[in-house]
Amino acid sequence: MTFIIAIDGPAAAGKGTLARRIAETYGFHHLDTGLTYRATARALLEAGLPLDDEAVAERMAQAVDLSGLDRAVLAQHHIGEAASRIAVMPAVRCALVEAQRRFSARSPGTVLDGRDIGTVVCPQAPVKLYVTASPDVRARRRHDEVIASGGVADYQTILADVKKRDDRDMGRADSPLKPADDAHLLDTSEMSIEAAFQAAKTIIDAALNRN
Ligand code: CDP
Ligand code: CDP
Repeated sequence: MTFIIAIDGPAAAGKGTLARRIAETYGFHHLDTGLTYRATARALLEAGLPLDDEAVAERMAQAVDLSGLDRAVLAQHHIGEAASRIAVMPAVRCALVEAQRRFSARSPGTVLDGRDIGTVVCPQAPVKLYVTASPDVRARRRHDEVIASGGVADYQTILADVKKRDDRDMGRADSPLKPADDAHLLDTSEMSIEAAFQAAKTIIDAALNRN
């Protein structure tokens, strides 16, 4: 049986960093589900299509190829912004969730990170982590990432954007961001990447022993 690890949480909480490390350690397949929303948004933008036509966006979502997702190509700020706008549409979510569920069944195990993995995509996952950090800490991390890659960033602008994204993700009617009832909460505000990984590993090892 496939072993699924579901990781959810807000932007820049450290989900992706943690998910990649876990996948590497346990030899599991990893899917950053945010990229599926970003790829759909990018395809619409590239084709010059509107972001508010649900039927058009649904067709783009159905055509997303999970093997061709590249964070470097999809990282741009305007793509993330467009992704969070189309992510409120039920038809888009339905198409992407179907592809994500197929991915989650890969053997011997999978790690999926996003906003609704433990609540909607894989509610049966034996391990659910809800990774969070304060908005200030998350904005600081995003800011430092941009500076480290040689870009220009304004902390206050990034903080406002993080809060706007949180409101949209937590406030939407379909699959809002929230911890599953059986999720382990991991607040990484004061935690190093290593400390967060060790905390997750303890939880995963206990669940693997039970299964
Ligand atoms: O930029 P950030 O890391 O916050 O976002 P992302 O993980 O790349 O996801 C971009 C957007 O896709 C998010 O703001 C969500 O609105 C949406 N998303 C979602 O609705 N459900 C998921 N499972 C993953 C992402
Ligand atoms: O995937 P998500 O948007 O939740 O976040 P991420 O891309 O994994 O992490 C955002 C940034 O925070 C990265 O630059 C990480 O290196 C950093 N980070 C950190 O400083 N401390 C942690 N405990 C986790 C992540």
